[in-house]
Amino acid sequence: MTQACFPIATNARWPDGLTIRARLAADAAGIASLHNLPGYRHGTLRTPYHSAEEIRKGIENQPATVTALVAVLEDQIVGDIGLTRHAGRRAHSGSFGMGVHDAYRGRGIGSALLGEVVAMADNWYNLRRLEMTVYADNGAAIALYRKFGFEVEGTLRTFAFRDGAYVDALTMARLRA
Ligand SMILES: CC(C)(COP(=O)(O)OP(=O)(O)OC[C@H]1O[C@@H](n2cnc3c(N)ncnc32)[C@H](O)[C@@H]1OP(=O)(O)O)[C@@H](O)C(=O)NCCC(=O)NCCS
Repeated sequence: MTQACFPIATNARWPDGLTIRARLAADAAGIASLHNLPGYRHGTLRTPYHSAEEIRKGIENQPATVTALVAVLEDQIVGDIGLTRHAGRRAHSGSFGMGVHDAYRGRGIGSALLGEVVAMADNWYNLRRLEMTVYADNGAAIALYRKFGFEVEGTLRTFAFRDGAYVDALTMARLRA
């Protein structure tokens, strides 16, 4: 689906032809294909064999505190990101999860997606703190987050089980001045 698309990040430099827009229920099959890719699964908490139906239900029941975006290139969903705004005494903070299609990495799509979430957090939701966890061996993601000013705050040992072994995670955050 093609639609007018304007970055909210003032310094955005999206790859040619890329669209970033809100996630739709009609995207369920494309998102299931994305989440079933081995590289995407390796870097995230996704499990094998996600179905379009399960993804569609998740989109339809999306909490109001979540803003979910997809990146579309060549009529294919090539990445996604979800910003969750926290509540109560953590209302100044939010977290996100993201991933890019295995065959489309290293083209600036991750930077384009994260740029939009950081701009939303800073300029529209007034979040002071943005945080996430990342596997300790995920050098590409750690480099992307550092590029946007995130810093490592600690190690979460034996954080998740991945392909037959436990893996540690780093907790990273970015504080807006
Ligand atoms: C991490 C991920 C989102 C990066 O997306 P991407 O589209 O490849 O990222 P970009 O092309 O925008 O690159 C952003 C920065 O990441 C760094 N980077 C990207 N690939 C890298 C690699 N293989 N090794 C080291 N650094 C890398 C670079 O610093 C790059 O910035 P620069 O090109 O301006 O110097 C992508 O690799 C991915 O989806 N991995 C699988 C799922 C995942 O790990 N999700 C994150 C969960 S915490």
